[in-house]
Amino acid sequence: MSLRIDILTLFPEMFGPVLGTSIPKRAAEKGLVEYHLTNIRSFATDAHLSVDDKPFGGGPGMVMLCQTLFDAVEEVEKQDPRPATRILLTPQGRLFDQALAEELAKQERLLLIAGHYEGFDERIIQGLSSMELSIGDYILSGGELAAMVVVDGVVRLLPGALGAVNGAADETFADGLLEYPQYTRPREFRGMNVPEVLLSGNHKLIAQWRLEQRRIRTQHRRPDLWQAYLRKEKQKEQ
Ligand code: ADE
Repeated sequence: MSLRIDILTLFPEMFGPVLGTSIPKRAAEKGLVEYHLTNIRSFATDAHLSVDDKPFGGGPGMVMLCQTLFDAVEEVEKQDPRPATRILLTPQGRLFDQALAEELAKQERLLLIAGHYEGFDERIIQGLSSMELSIGDYILSGGELAAMVVVDGVVRLLPGALGAVNGAADETFADGLLEYPQYTRPREFRGMNVPEVLLSGNHKLIAQWRLEQRRIRTQHRRPDLWQAYLRKEKQKEQ
């Protein structure tokens, strides 16, 4: 059974190039995933096709209306009996990470809602009991790019999406460490050499060197991940 991903957005045209390229495209061609884009504006009910309004209490910007979003979600969900995991892209949400990508890749159906303007009416979040997801501590002008990040991060984990068997199993974050440095031809480039051990043909030594590099990198670049890794290692020992 393939994963169905619905995306509700005011700018469906933004998604074409991303979903139509590389892994997201190949995964759809292989039948691992299907994408369904819906324009929220097609559920607007007034003559101006409004999807937002001024916030109660004043303040800058506009707020997404309840009615259009509820109508859009309910209509789209009716198109398929599989229950959808509803996800709202907002900077206030839970941070998207590899563990969550793996969780989402196991679902049957995801419904991503990309907002624009200052934000959503709080009753959208409350009433749709949707998960709020953020892709990082910065503000984008809308949820579209965030939705694309989530789709890409999830789809590449679907079994068969990547070329190699287990393609995603030994990369950064799969076990909490950053990736080791990689090299390809030539052996020397502008005075910079490929580490000898990689040319040695000794697989055991290479594996040791790579693990050591991953540990050093993680310790220096991401002390937060390093501490989490150490905690996990300690738990394993107990
Ligand atoms: N919308 C605006 N900024 C965002 C972010 N950082 N993550 C998810 N959705 C967003």
